[in-house]
Amino acid sequence: MTEELEAIDPQERFQEFFKTEKYRERISQMAVAGKTSLIVDFEDLLIFDQKLAEELRERPDDYLEHASNAAYAQLQTEDPEYSEKIRVKYAEKKADKEAVITVRIVRLFEAAPLRKLGSDHIGKLVMVEGIVVRSTPVRPMVMRAAFKCKRCGEIAYLDQAGQFLRAPFMCKNPDCATTKSSFDFVQEESTFIDSQELRVQERPEDLPPGQLPRVLHVKLVGGEIVDVARPGDHVSIVAMIRAVSSTLPGVGKLRTFMLHAETNSIEVLGKEPEIALPSPEDEEKILELAKDPWIHRKIISSIAPSIYGYDHIKEAIMYLLFGGVPKSLPDITVRGEMNALLVGDPGTAKSQLLLYVTRIAPRGLYTSGRGTTAAGLTAAVLREKGGGMSLEAGALVLADKGIACIDEIDKMRPEDRVAIHEAMEQHTVSVAKGGIVATLNARTAVLAAANPALGRYEPHRSIAENISLPVTILSRFDLIFVLRDVPNKEMDDKMSEHILEIHRKGLSPIEPPITSELLRKYVSYAKGIKPILTKEALQRLKDFYLAMRSASESEGSPVAITARQLESLVRIAEARARVALRKEVIAEDAEAAIGIMKRSLEEVGIDLSSYKFDIDILMTGKPKSVRDKLQTVLSTLIEMERETGMVEKRALLNELEAKNKVPISEGEHLIGQLLREGTIYEPREGFLKKT
Ligand SMILES: Nc1ncnc2c1ncn2[C@@H]1O[C@H](COP(=O)(O)OP(=O)(O)OP(=O)(O)O)[C@@H](O)[C@H]1O
Ligand SMILES: [Mg+2]
Ligand SMILES: [Zn+2]
Repeated sequence: MTEELEAIDPQERFQEFFKTEKYRERISQMAVAGKTSLIVDFEDLLIFDQKLAEELRERPDDYLEHASNAAYAQLQTEDPEYSEKIRVKYAEKKADKEAVITVRIVRLFEAAPLRKLGSDHIGKLVMVEGIVVRSTPVRPMVMRAAFKCKRCGEIAYLDQAGQFLRAPFMCKNPDCATTKSSFDFVQEESTFIDSQELRVQERPEDLPPGQLPRVLHVKLVGGEIVDVARPGDHVSIVAMIRAVSSTLPGVGKLRTFMLHAETNSIEVLGKEPEIALPSPEDEEKILELAKDPWIHRKIISSIAPSIYGYDHIKEAIMYLLFGGVPKSLPDITVRGEMNALLVGDPGTAKSQLLLYVTRIAPRGLYTSGRGTTAAGLTAAVLREKGGGMSLEAGALVLADKGIACIDEIDKMRPEDRVAIHEAMEQHTVSVAKGGIVATLNARTAVLAAANPALGRYEPHRSIAENISLPVTILSRFDLIFVLRDVPNKEMDDKMSEHILEIHRKGLSPIEPPITSELLRKYVSYAKGIKPILTKEALQRLKDFYLAMRSASESEGSPVAITARQLESLVRIAEARARVALRKEVIAEDAEAAIGIMKRSLEEVGIDLSSYKFDIDILMTGKPKSVRDKLQTVLSTLIEMERETGMVEKRALLNELEAKNKVPISEGEHLIGQLLREGTIYEPREGFLKKT
């Protein structure tokens, strides 16, 4: 700090700033809203006095105090009555050295990348943007603690700072203070303020590929800033960076410190991934591309060009990237994001495809079924090290409004198996555990991969038998594809050539027509379009749906294609219109949607030509008669569970034989089937329970 600057009193400078019209207005509004904090846009301050703004950023502790005092002085002229009222209130409530008014700075010019925060930032005011991954409930923190002397009963007040509660050393009562005394904390006489802790993580879109995200510990103190953000929210935080070292009992403080952010202001940002408007040149390129009648082909061949074949899967990935239009009706909402599943033999490039999508999607997140954090795929309530609970968001919440690529989804945690149903259809994740009740948003498109349950895909078995996921989850995927590794002379020849060429040149032998950088911008741009179904497109979809329904009706099968598939068709058709930046979904889009849906249904074992089209057979591989029996087993189990909690397998088999005439051997078989599907499970050897 230079001497000349000291000459101009910063507090006076702030007061001049608060005399500008905008801030006079804001200050007089404080009384109306009953507030004790004042929001200051950093940009306003910068325009008013650049030097002052820079000092504030460099020495926030001093300058925020100057600003607070100035704001209070201005309030005294604007509204003497209110200023007196809060002063009196404050005198009894808050700790001494805290200012009456809190000045909260918002929108510093540029955000400091979370990844770059380090020792240079300690003590400075910075803005960080990120995603809240974890939050504690709001907890009262003591600001001024009252202590009662155990010997004489004298009460002493002590302002608190730091992590631990500090008690007085000696009693102030002159008749008592001869030797060290001990004290009781008096809660009723102490003053508290609301506090909360958050963990803020780099946003998926800011993450350099292949890097683990960084996290920052964020402290919030004050009723106005706690409980503003939930896990999954994107936030912009203006905070003072502090270095805190932990104390080891009996050893002392560690020499390495952790960075904490002491929050001055917090804002929840819009959840849309940065739709940074493309530069005029990029926009021109995008519009030019969209005019191409072969744009769909062009994009498909630009997706993962190093991976040979799989054009239908790349087409599905294209639809997934662009997505359909969500519908918000007064009573219900229908998701626009699509879900796709790749089931396949080992080494069929599933993981590679997923990783590629993560790179190209405007907000893509790659995770394995187990998740990379304790929260797994959905969310979890965790016990904090220092005691207390906190809520942590899982991958589907973090990828809200983006694409979550979940590899090995069949290996997800049991908790996620339950919660993922809600996440994939309603697009929310609800948690009620350990005193925390919350619903988080998960408007996420899912691209998942799984290995067949039996190691290799068995084409003679149903999809549900081939993958250890319950039917209820399978049915939430709009499209399912099977990747099989079968020797085929011609294919192997071409593919090996392709792969070897990559290794020889270190380059993809196929030059993608559109670079991934441009494709990413293209996808962002197209997301702004909300195409509407034309009459012709609607008619095509309806015809297909009705044909499928009636065909299966005449065959006597109970459920054919369901309303879920119809919604999927609409989403795919909308996505295809978006690819061409069209505002209308035309018949051609509907045809393409039907085409890819048929392909997906065929892959999972449906012969469309004969119209033997039974979603039950598709998913469970069982005709109605067997399903009815499975139902009997299940309802008997539920019945018995009501009495005993979990049910002994033997008892269930006996009951089935006695009441429903199901032979023991068949009963065993049916129970095995339900176990494989995940409808029931074995909490203990020989015992059963419904999932
Ligand atoms: N069609 C293909 N074109 C180019 N490379 C391929 C193709 N199929 C497999 N590969 C190569 O094989 C390797 C294995 O692929 P990857 O790890 O993605 O398989 P996976 O399907 O995820 O297997 P797993 O089920 O065992 O996880 C990768 O290096 C990939 O590039
Ligand atoms: Mg893999
Ligand atoms: Zn005493």
